[in-house]
Amino acid sequence: MHRILIADKLAKAGLEILRAAPDVEFDEAIGLKPPELAAKVEPYHGLIVRSGSTVTGEVIAAANNLRVIGRAGIGVDNIDVEAATKKGVVVMNTPAGNNITTAEHAISMMLALARSIPQATASMKQGKWEKSRFTGSEVFNKTLGVVGIGNIGSLVAERALGLKMRVLAYDPFITEEAAQRLGVELVKTLDDLYARSDFVTIHVPLNAETRGLLNDGAFAKMKKGVRIINCARGGIVDEAALAAAIGTGTVAGAALDVFSQEPPPAEHPLLKLDQVICTPHLGAATDEAQVNVAVAIAHQVVNFLRAGVIQDAVNVPSMTTELKEALAPYLS
Ligand code: MLT
Repeated sequence: MHRILIADKLAKAGLEILRAAPDVEFDEAIGLKPPELAAKVEPYHGLIVRSGSTVTGEVIAAANNLRVIGRAGIGVDNIDVEAATKKGVVVMNTPAGNNITTAEHAISMMLALARSIPQATASMKQGKWEKSRFTGSEVFNKTLGVVGIGNIGSLVAERALGLKMRVLAYDPFITEEAAQRLGVELVKTLDDLYARSDFVTIHVPLNAETRGLLNDGAFAKMKKGVRIINCARGGIVDEAALAAAIGTGTVAGAALDVFSQEPPPAEHPLLKLDQVICTPHLGAATDEAQVNVAVAIAHQVVNFLRAGVIQDAVNVPSMTTELKEALAPYLS
């Protein structure tokens, strides 16, 4: 019997797939802190999480039967992937499940920011009618700089082109031909993107290279009046630097779905600024995306445990001896 622990709420459609799989059984234990998860994980072969659980090295050390961790979603920064790799545990995510939802959120945030929709809503709800206060900016003919034109960034670019924006992209992993096919201009340096963009949107994962990518130095190179959209991960934008750049007027506004600490403290300086609009990490929060990621991860984890099928593994390219040994029966 393959035993799976579900540590975050998974859409019903995903649970049905697990229920229907022969020789698979699962338990749900939602809202566990890492020490509680570590105490519970030992008998399980599969662990499924979203972003609520943190799968620390301590959890992985205790997971003596674990073969696969499935992340229903994209970001794996809540999982100690290195510890999993060392222990021979495959980590999989669902890159195609919520990419459209996240791209739509980024575009919604850009438009809401350009037209001050949240601020105007709040003002009207206070009984005011402040037409001139909320004069906005068109996005037509403006330049959108997309930092990271992978799975989500390319969907954002396609949609921005539909709004008749010019799209610049910075991404060291994409070819000139792929950029041309998408209809975007690939820039060689971030400095070039910063210097020419009216809006900058981030679509890279949070890792050692991207932490603090948008810092004082980056803001100093941007066009005066630039607007920033971050629906990727908190920590990529240096929040103190952003607040300072808004203070000097370099940045006209920012739309943030993610924060370095979630939820951010009530006294967070960015939450006090009128130029900042925000949502509580809603990038992937649609009914459609939650079903997509739950169905995808349920299939992936079941197919791996039952037949060794490896799909969308984030740590297979960096296989350790332990992981190679664990996968040997399937890879030979
Ligand atoms: C993701 O990484 O899939 C999204 O940010 C949503 C989430 O964290 O669940």
